[in-house]
Amino acid sequence: MARPPSSRKASPSPLILAAVIAAVYLAQPGAADLKVDYYASTCPNVETIVRGVVQQKMQATIRTTGSTIRLFFHDCFVEGCDASVLIESTPGNQAEKDASDNKSLAFEGFDTVRSAKAAVEAACPDTVSCADVLALATRDAIAMSGGPFFPIELGRLDGLSSTASSVPGQLPEPNQTMDQLLAVFKAHGLNMSDLVALSAAHSVGLAHCSKFSDRLYKYQPGQPTDPTLNPKYARFLESKCPDGGPDNLVLMDQASPAELDNQYYRNLQDGGGLLGSDELLYTDNRTRPMVDALANSTNAFYKAFADAIVRLGRVGVKFGRRGNIRKQCDVFN
Ligand code: HEM
Ligand SMILES: *[C@@H]1O[C@H](CO)[C@@H](O)[C@H](O)[C@H]1NC(C)=O
Ligand SMILES: *[C@@H]1O[C@H](CO)[C@@H](O)[C@H](O)[C@H]1NC(C)=O
Ligand SMILES: *[C@@H]1O[C@H](CO)[C@@H](O)[C@H](O)[C@H]1NC(C)=O
Ligand SMILES: *[C@@H]1O[C@H](CO)[C@@H](O)[C@H](O)[C@H]1NC(C)=O
Ligand SMILES: *[C@@H]1O[C@H](CO)[C@@H](O)[C@H](O)[C@H]1NC(C)=O
Repeated sequence: MARPPSSRKASPSPLILAAVIAAVYLAQPGAADLKVDYYASTCPNVETIVRGVVQQKMQATIRTTGSTIRLFFHDCFVEGCDASVLIESTPGNQAEKDASDNKSLAFEGFDTVRSAKAAVEAACPDTVSCADVLALATRDAIAMSGGPFFPIELGRLDGLSSTASSVPGQLPEPNQTMDQLLAVFKAHGLNMSDLVALSAAHSVGLAHCSKFSDRLYKYQPGQPTDPTLNPKYARFLESKCPDGGPDNLVLMDQASPAELDNQYYRNLQDGGGLLGSDELLYTDNRTRPMVDALANSTNAFYKAFADAIVRLGRVGVKFGRRGNIRKQCDVFN
């Protein structure tokens, strides 16, 4: 793009420009240092090793897909993608995963990362971070469940702390408004496109009745069923949640529960979003055009989802003295 001479005259000096560029990089030290081939010389087989473990786990249980992808999301949104979510509580420390507002992360995700890390350690000790193993396992779980395959950047370090008190306010809630959801994503450097694309992770996995029963008349005395909910689907959900209680689990995408596909968006068009935050993507006129576009095209969905997962993987990444490489993902070295 050519600029007129007058604007060139008004442009900042190279020194100021360099300072601005440096400031931008310092503000987000992550993105510049992550690399797809980060372990090419230090652990050349890391991708094959992780993929083998994820494949085994998926054959063992269908819960591997959803639990692993959700674990990655929760890791990245609390203290950055630094494996802090994998740390177990100790008598002196209530860890992130045991935050009091129960996030109900499923065991299978933790187990997948534990097994993958053990296999990687056997081949390349003290080399690959747990944060990167989780990122790789997530990428593989997505591809193996019919989603896109894409290169994932590596080079994250594992965080040095994990506290339950760091969780509140960091994660989105199913009953939030669009403005609130957008604000939570923006606080992590992600925008409306990312919110719409990443929400398609709810095309796989399960949710507890307690996370959506407030949308059903049966459990809201005096209040109608959420009018954005398809009535037939509402009756179905009531039958799946006989007491509205916290223990029952419901498939998030009834039409293709194990496929990570754009059926998620077609469900929304039909009033079939399970969580309030899902259906909101279709009822809010800011995000509805994106839902319609992604519902229509598998290619557009693949690209949007892969790009957004890569951006999610850059959130709050740690380098240098702010992290290390854990030997075991659930305890600090
Ligand atoms: C947009 C805001 C979001 C909200 C409000 C939200 C909320 C929830 C809730 C309440 C559940 C059910 C948990 C349970 O009852 O056990 C769930 C499940 C899940 N979420 Fe989200 N989520 C959001 C975004 C995301 C994103 C961005 C991802 C990943 C990229 C994700 C991945 C998942 C997966 C895979 C499951 C199924 C977990 C399983 O099967 O164990 N979610 N989410
Ligand atoms: C947290 O979730 C677990 C597993 O679903 C459940 O056993 C436990 O009772 C929950 N705790 C709270 C405080 O809700
Ligand atoms: C969402 O639910 C939580 C807990 O169930 C409640 O504390 C909060 O006020 C609700 N938020 C909105 C926006 O309704
Ligand atoms: C969100 O950010 C991505 C990447 O920078 C960009 O391509 C996209 O247009 C943005 N979307 C919105 C709605 O601003
Ligand atoms: C969405 O609807 C509101 C209220 O009807 C309107 O003011 C706004 O301009 C609309 N925005 C878009 C992006 O269509
Ligand atoms: C979706 O596809 C249909 C049929 O191919 C087309 O008529 C419509 O314009 C498309 N909508 C969007 C938002 O791309």
